Amino acid sequence: MEFNKSLKHYNTFNVNYLAHKYIPINSLSELKKLINNLTDKIFILGGGSNILLTKNIKIPCIHIKIKGIKIIKEKLDSIIIEVNSGENWHNFVMWCISNNFGGIENLALIPGKIGGAPIQNIGAYGVELKDVFIKCKGINKITGKIKEFDSDECNFKYRDSIFKNELKNQYIITSIFLKLTKNNHKFNIDYGVLKNKIKSDKLNLKKIANAVIKIRQSKLPDQKKIGNAGSFFKNPIVSKKHFENLSKKFKNIPSYFVNEKLVKIPAAWMIEQIGLKGYKEKDAGIHKNQPLVLVNYGNANGKDILKIAKKVRTKIKEEFKIELETEVTIY
Ligand code: EPU
Repeated sequence: MEFNKSLKHYNTFNVNYLAHKYIPINSLSELKKLINNLTDKIFILGGGSNILLTKNIKIPCIHIKIKGIKIIKEKLDSIIIEVNSGENWHNFVMWCISNNFGGIENLALIPGKIGGAPIQNIGAYGVELKDVFIKCKGINKITGKIKEFDSDECNFKYRDSIFKNELKNQYIITSIFLKLTKNNHKFNIDYGVLKNKIKSDKLNLKKIANAVIKIRQSKLPDQKKIGNAGSFFKNPIVSKKHFENLSKKFKNIPSYFVNEKLVKIPAAWMIEQIGLKGYKEKDAGIHKNQPLVLVNYGNANGKDILKIAKKVRTKIKEEFKIELETEVTIY
């Protein structure tokens, strides 16, 4: 355990708050022991890539670093793999590609650790975690009991799961089980920008991952240089009626089909319309290439970034009558 540890390098916004009690955890048995001995509420830190800290953490801060990849079952065409929650997501994607295991190549370069993946059903370029997900294991934060959740129980939706709703803050994900292909990969290159970037003949996993990496690198700020947590807001889903009303005012409003009654609107487009693309105040700002991403140019604190987020939400509400939800957790 360390006291008053700076979390600046443990959150991808690089904001400088302290963990009054910082406890790194390297194995499941250590985690179980800790939970059995703790009575306080705890704060769980994983990759720190989907959180905006706005204050010091006074309750024990448990940093999950449980590593390990295990092959559970292998068939001619498919493989089931268990990955522990402290593994880095992107490194795992690249490991799968080097072994020719298919299914998550579109999710290359998503920041964070494995444990965060099911919580928000990570997704990009037409693929979501749920497409390859079998189950996950989680440990109850109070009882220390381990429970398995299959895909249905996780109730995955767009950037959403049971762990953000009914079971919010109740479980620590310790591992996930994915089913990947070994042959006959189902390549998914239908997403607009990906389709343009890639020739559809002689596809392989590496080609797709490389194209995704190139797109992400060209649009999204490099987390090593500029603090950010990827998309800060979710793309809102509105009724078709609301969308039709907006279309009268905004002739070129883009949208994605959700179902007969609902439409998803890219929040990046709305932020551009309200003139905030590239906006900056102190060291906090809205990225110039991808306005869905809020950034820390150096010395912004969590409150500076939150102020910008509030400005975006207020203006979007005024202009589009839509309440933007954050994808990032605010603490
Ligand atoms: N757009 C603009 N102006 C811009 C940028 C985008 O108007 O400056 C509009 C365009 O109409 C564009 C649309 O927004 O077609 C969508 O942009 P993009 O393809 O970049 O995707 P996104 O909706 O902004 C989502 C995910 C990303 C994911 C990409 C690709 C969410 C909240 N974000 O972004 O996820 O990489 O699609 O699949 O769903 C993340 O979650 O951290 C993340 C990066």
